[in-house]
Amino acid sequence: MALRSVIFYFSQSGNTKKYAEKIAEGLSSGEHTCELVRFKKLKNDIELVKNFDFSKYDLIGFGIPVYYFKPPFHILDILEALPSLEGKKGFLFCSSGGNPGATLYKMKVITDKKGLKIIDANDQFVGLDRHPLYRDFDYTLPSSIGHPNEEDLKKAVEFGKQLLEKALDPNTPEKTDFWTRDSDFAKITSFEGLNSQFPKFKLNKEKCTQCGSCAETCPVDAIVLDPYPKWIKKCDRCYLCEMWCPEQAIECNWSWQVEVMNNLMRKKGYTPKKRGK
Ligand SMILES: Cc1cc2nc3c(=O)[nH]c(=O)nc-3n(C[C@H](O)[C@H](O)[C@H](O)COP(=O)(O)O)c2cc1C
Ligand code: SF4
Ligand code: SF4
Repeated sequence: MALRSVIFYFSQSGNTKKYAEKIAEGLSSGEHTCELVRFKKLKNDIELVKNFDFSKYDLIGFGIPVYYFKPPFHILDILEALPSLEGKKGFLFCSSGGNPGATLYKMKVITDKKGLKIIDANDQFVGLDRHPLYRDFDYTLPSSIGHPNEEDLKKAVEFGKQLLEKALDPNTPEKTDFWTRDSDFAKITSFEGLNSQFPKFKLNKEKCTQCGSCAETCPVDAIVLDPYPKWIKKCDRCYLCEMWCPEQAIECNWSWQVEVMNNLMRKKGYTPKKRGK
């Protein structure tokens, strides 16, 4: 039997995309095929999954980056919008800076509700972490530097090959051993926690050229141009609008959060660079 797979993935800085492509490579051999679908904007993504013809596929995968030890908030909304996937096999994966927390478990709770039988999952893929908390470390969590590397990507192909074998075997059991515990930071990393503990978006109108790139970047359409950017709703708090603004016109005050992070990192033996060097 030719196995037809599809992988839905979300990827802002490209790490999860690389892993998704390699897993697809492992799943595509001989008569077996795997297609890739990228999530980009929440509203469209919800319509996409609602109208998608899942009947054409035998194996359905979902891959995402880890945000705050869990899935980006809006990914849960996309998964909730899935139709019934009763009778289908599935798999889950994520890429992280090294601590994925209970990300895959939180996805599985929803895919279980949809009737998808998860036959495998992988939360060990590492990708360069660009969160602004690490800006004194040159915008990078040191342990994630250089990832995904060649070795990581080979492992992703291998994961895809093993998935193929498992999907073709009618006796493959459901995967149930997921890390389920919330991290100690769970309270801070709730919607409300991030809103209260993390910086507000402050626009410097003298620098802003109204180019719209921040609104384009935002996966949940939380930014509208009127004519300057305005933040109109709760969001993932990925801060990529801030980081990727070509004019550095979005000025978030990270001073105390960065200090806390630097102290934690120092304890781990990392030395921060001097800002701006
Ligand atoms: C907002 C944000 C929060 C993150 N939170 C975590 C985290 O809790 N644990 C972790 O290991 N990595 C974390 N990371 C790192 C990303 O999960 C990692 O770099 C991932 O590979 C990014 O995937 P992408 O390039 O496909 O967007 C975070 C990154 C961002 C931007
Ligand atoms: S990306 Fe920067 S310059 Fe462009 S509209 Fe947004 S804030 Fe303004
Ligand atoms: S931090 Fe910025 S880009 Fe990210 S979800 Fe929020 S508004 Fe959108």
